[in-house]
Amino acid sequence: KDKSTVSITVVGASGDLAKKKIFPALFALYYEDCLPEHFTIFGYARSKMTDAELRNMISRTLTCRIDKRANCDEKMDQFLNRCFYHSGQYDSQNNFAELDKKLKEHEGGRISNRLFYLSIPPNIFTAAVRCASLSASSANGWTRVIVEKPFGRDSESSAALTNALKQYLEEDQIFRIDHYLGKELVENLSVLRFSNLIFEPLWSRQYIRSVQLIFSEDFGTEGREGIFLSLKYFDNYGIIRDIMQNHLLQILALFAMETPVSLDGEDIRNEKVKVLRSMRPLQLEDVVIGQYKSHTKGGVSYPGYTDDKTVPKDSLTPTFAAASLFIDNARWDGVPFLMKAGKALHTKRAEIRVQFRHVPGNLYNRNFGTDLDQATNELVIRVQPDEAIYLTINNKVPGLGMRLDRSNLNLLYAARYSKEIPDAYERLLLDAVEGERRLFIRSDELASAWALFTPVLKELEEKKIIPEYYPYGSRGPVGAYYLAARHNVRWGDLGLEQ
Ligand code: BG6
Repeated sequence: KDKSTVSITVVGASGDLAKKKIFPALFALYYEDCLPEHFTIFGYARSKMTDAELRNMISRTLTCRIDKRANCDEKMDQFLNRCFYHSGQYDSQNNFAELDKKLKEHEGGRISNRLFYLSIPPNIFTAAVRCASLSASSANGWTRVIVEKPFGRDSESSAALTNALKQYLEEDQIFRIDHYLGKELVENLSVLRFSNLIFEPLWSRQYIRSVQLIFSEDFGTEGREGIFLSLKYFDNYGIIRDIMQNHLLQILALFAMETPVSLDGEDIRNEKVKVLRSMRPLQLEDVVIGQYKSHTKGGVSYPGYTDDKTVPKDSLTPTFAAASLFIDNARWDGVPFLMKAGKALHTKRAEIRVQFRHVPGNLYNRNFGTDLDQATNELVIRVQPDEAIYLTINNKVPGLGMRLDRSNLNLLYAARYSKEIPDAYERLLLDAVEGERRLFIRSDELASAWALFTPVLKELEEKKIIPEYYPYGSRGPVGAYYLAARHNVRWGDLGLEQ
């Protein structure tokens, strides 16, 4: 019999992230029997609410996967019965002490393990951590705290936040979420590399010519006040801090790191830190920034970024950025890693594109005319939507002549696996409950990530660099194409798609 219990407190329970991601993920874990036998969930927020009201609020966003519809309602009721609410201020030790009392009642004398999920704005992180740790941490089990970005807005503020958290928590109690690390294909990156003989030997400057990390959304920030995005936050941070410094850089680190000693979280994070520290801090000329402007298409008009009432009219905040990064180590010397991240573009997509070098002395050169680029192999890992891994190869067109074309070897997840892919938050919450730290950002990793971007972010702001304006729904600023061309790269998202 399990003598321990886990209490999960969602601090900021009435926020959008909690409603749309955290509670649904907890329910999915419950449904999949992944939560321990004894668990309790508490919502904590300032507003007054009863347990019943909280349950009612949560129940609206819970869903069952298609293959689990059978006893969905029953499971939901069971789950909701284990959810409770406590109203309190985020900076009140007394209110957290009251929570502690309630948690103890539910724990019923078992070993108490406590997980706090801080789904609150960063300016109150430290106060909440202080109160939770002083008044509501576990007396005989573990206490862990999940925090969401932003983790500061530059090296200094991030270090200050880390120091503040460390007054109350040990490093192994802090679980910093980068939800891209919970995505299925990002998790699969290491499997692809390290357990397939055909990839790892090619994974270096010797065979790889360039790597692209692309994030694009086909909607802007308008009307998206909510789940991840508060415009006040976005306007103060911009796309480089919102996507590049974390999501894309994390993917890059996993992609480029050396083989870790083991799959242990510390071993993996050690390798990620090493690769981040081998990177050159970005210079102004390595970066192109853009901001979307209004555009009318097919009679519909789409607003520009600064058309939003909450955004200052003269805001220079980038909603698009492209950057070229280099890793100065033996494996990657000279290989451009190009990043592109933007909102209000023509498509919604996150992917990694690996372009291989030309085949030396290719016997079939004449088939490609002067455009040798067309003949290079490309490996694409599409993180979303329509998860896929595909490899573009040159292939003989069937028939008597000798004509070549490019075709794909495909692994389309929807066709290969009938399972619905779990949401990133499910994996991350489960890992936090189980104490698996592999997918969370360690303090030194965070510091190295900021070190790369802070100087250029400061320069952009100090020099008030004007973003290149691009129409809503377009492919983004042309500057991004020049930047790639300087490194002999063409953005691959124009090529052969699957
Ligand atoms: C968040 C960003 O981290 O990621 C948002 O703050 C962005 O701006 C979101 O929209 C994208 O996440 P996903 O999982 O929808 O690709």
